[in-house]
Amino acid sequence: MAETNYDESKVPAYTLPPLLKAKDGSEIKTAFDWVRKRRPEILQTLKDEVFGELPPRPDSFTKEVISVKEDALDNTAIRKEIKLTFSHNGKSHSFVMLVYIPKNAPGPVPVFVGLNFKGNHGTTVEDDVMQTGRGLNGELVEPERGVQAERWSFAETVKRGFASATVCYHDIHPDDKETTSWRKSIYNLFYSEETDEQFHTHGGSISSWAWGLGRMLDALENEPLIDTKRAMVHGHSRLGKTALWAGATDPRFKLVISNDSGCCGAAIHRRLYGETIEVVCHWFPQWFTTSLRKYICNEPALPYDQHHLVALSAPRAVCIASATEDRWADPKGEFLSGYHASEVYQLFGAKGMPVDEWPEAGKYVSGEVSYHLRIGKHDQTLFDWLHYFELADKYVR
Ligand code: GCU
Repeated sequence: MAETNYDESKVPAYTLPPLLKAKDGSEIKTAFDWVRKRRPEILQTLKDEVFGELPPRPDSFTKEVISVKEDALDNTAIRKEIKLTFSHNGKSHSFVMLVYIPKNAPGPVPVFVGLNFKGNHGTTVEDDVMQTGRGLNGELVEPERGVQAERWSFAETVKRGFASATVCYHDIHPDDKETTSWRKSIYNLFYSEETDEQFHTHGGSISSWAWGLGRMLDALENEPLIDTKRAMVHGHSRLGKTALWAGATDPRFKLVISNDSGCCGAAIHRRLYGETIEVVCHWFPQWFTTSLRKYICNEPALPYDQHHLVALSAPRAVCIASATEDRWADPKGEFLSGYHASEVYQLFGAKGMPVDEWPEAGKYVSGEVSYHLRIGKHDQTLFDWLHYFELADKYVR
């Protein structure tokens, strides 16, 4: 495998594939042309070359409230655990969503929707939340409680008048390199007749997870205290890649948050800085379709780059967050995808990213496309959340 480059002077000169030129060579000059002509082309390219198709809608979907706690988080929140079950072709798949809703809000509140790595019980300090998050053999991926509670900042979220909903990503699609792992995922309801090889030509776990984010939102739709017209999607790292894909494929998300999403998330591939397609396909082939492998050590041939992924959320608000010690994710490349995506926002009369230069660390840059470079490591902290809350107030509330 090629050596990882962390030297800015070794970033090659590159030309990005245009956003505002359609495949037939015509210029995209209006928001109408973007929506009608160019956006669908890019969406299809990213399905074909990277993420695959999202699973279809199943025949039926049921929702069962399995617990309600009226005095959660020191009596500031109502906590619910809701089981979602999807049935199709005589098969079914379920997962449990944990929801915190502020108490005594004057009306239905905006909601943050996100997936977690370590089980619902890993996101909260409350010790009576059901343990979720099961791997390929049905084992709990993390039995310990509260291991990532700091990443979730639920108490701060409800204090500011937002709800927050989460599901463990393994319960939608176990994150496992094993080529059969998709058979334990939601895709199994639809494609179980296929060979593993056939499946991987059109499906990948990031699409499963993005699908799950949309179904969480469906399930929240008739919650009286939540306003799903004001929904936001967030995710860290591989789940930041997923949040961008969910924003691209589901326009109900009005703020799309990519936290340290890196390679195949917000980072521009052509910079060849930090993680590359070669590396991500080697360690995590399950995330993508097999088509992506064509571009291993061949980035100049990509018909897209990651500013295309960001632009698919336009004109809705996007926030890209990086961290100084997360060079693997290429912080500057993450900024640049938001910067370059801004030309699509301009078609809508917005500015997009309000600055032209990669901002210094520790500052929030806020616009329809926002950015910050947190001082610290690969993580999602209160510093990140405080920016997301500010943007939620400005663009969503
Ligand atoms: C690895 C991977 C990244 C990913 C990260 C994560 O570091 O190389 O692409 O973002 O895991 O999801 O934690």
